Amino acid sequence: MKPIREQLLGDLARAGSAHEVEQVRIRYLGRKGQITTLAKNTDFRRMSPDERREFGRQLNELKQLAESRIAEAFEAVRSRTVAEPAAGKVDLTLPGTGHRVGCLHPISLVQMELEDIFQGMGFMVLTGPEVETEYYNFDALNIPADHPARDMQDTFWLTNGMLLRTHTSANQVRVLERFGAPLRAIFPGRCFRYEAMDASHENSFYQLEGLLVDRDISVANLIAVMKALLSEVFHRDVTVRLRPGFFPFVEPGFELDCQCLICRGKGCSTCKSTGWLELIPCGLVHPRVLEYGRIDTSQYSGFAFGLGLTRLAMMKFGIPDIRLFNSGDVRFYEQFPAAV
Ligand code: FA5
Repeated sequence: MKPIREQLLGDLARAGSAHEVEQVRIRYLGRKGQITTLAKNTDFRRMSPDERREFGRQLNELKQLAESRIAEAFEAVRSRTVAEPAAGKVDLTLPGTGHRVGCLHPISLVQMELEDIFQGMGFMVLTGPEVETEYYNFDALNIPADHPARDMQDTFWLTNGMLLRTHTSANQVRVLERFGAPLRAIFPGRCFRYEAMDASHENSFYQLEGLLVDRDISVANLIAVMKALLSEVFHRDVTVRLRPGFFPFVEPGFELDCQCLICRGKGCSTCKSTGWLELIPCGLVHPRVLEYGRIDTSQYSGFAFGLGLTRLAMMKFGIPDIRLFNSGDVRFYEQFPAAV
């Protein structure tokens, strides 16, 4: 029996797969296997009782050893396959890799919501270039080269004399030239200013410009549209105030401020302790701008506004620091899909 035992252990040591272990099992314990045959073919009648007892004991031991070593070999092969799947083998017991679903940036969410609101009021949605000429960004908006208003918007100048637009108003005269009057359009987009950053100032931020030109347009029309807009955006009562504001391309000009929704008017770093946040500068379009856009000012007048889209998103979602928008932190962005 000893040779069978040695042979069995040698065969198991060489068996590297479940299939090979199974072949060993058949070779020794199968119906015609060596151990089975040994038990079947031995003539116990020719043995003395002591010999029979001793032979039976050794045969049982061999059979038990074969069964337990074969079971161990199966287990060893299985755990090796799970732990280090060889090339070409798939381990079905490992968890799946899963798919991450992306989400829209909170500014995109607010922009899309505003586009819907304005489209409902008959406004077209347009875009304009981020790299602009000095003419459209300043001159055509009644801001000549020596005008101090240029200093209010610190500009990134390019070496070819062009600039990164400092406001979406740069698109006003382009749109007037292209579509003429009457006209209702909004043009959201990114603006750039060479500014120190803090909780409410970025050097790359979003505005949404609106322009309406028609007959008999007055400040009353402007206020009505702004109120309709804010009540739809915030779905609740928002306290706003209108104060005079100077922009060379509107006359009269206003600043529409919104009570800070982060601190509810108490004062915080977002509103610089004033309780108010400058949200929508606006006014009636200056006749000179209409003339640059080849509009007949004896027939038409209009209003324009330049909504701070990034700041509106801060108010809507209660985001206390503008720098989070460009942080690149996916955990921040993922919080917003369900909010709109
Ligand atoms: C302008 O840019 C004018 N073009 C707006 C305008 C349009 C006036 C049409 C009249 C008629 P102002 O520089 O104030 O204005 O910027 C408009 C809004 O953009 C601000 O109220 C603010 O909400 C946002 N904004 C301005 N600078 C920054 C900045 N650095 N970071 C984030 N938001 C800013």
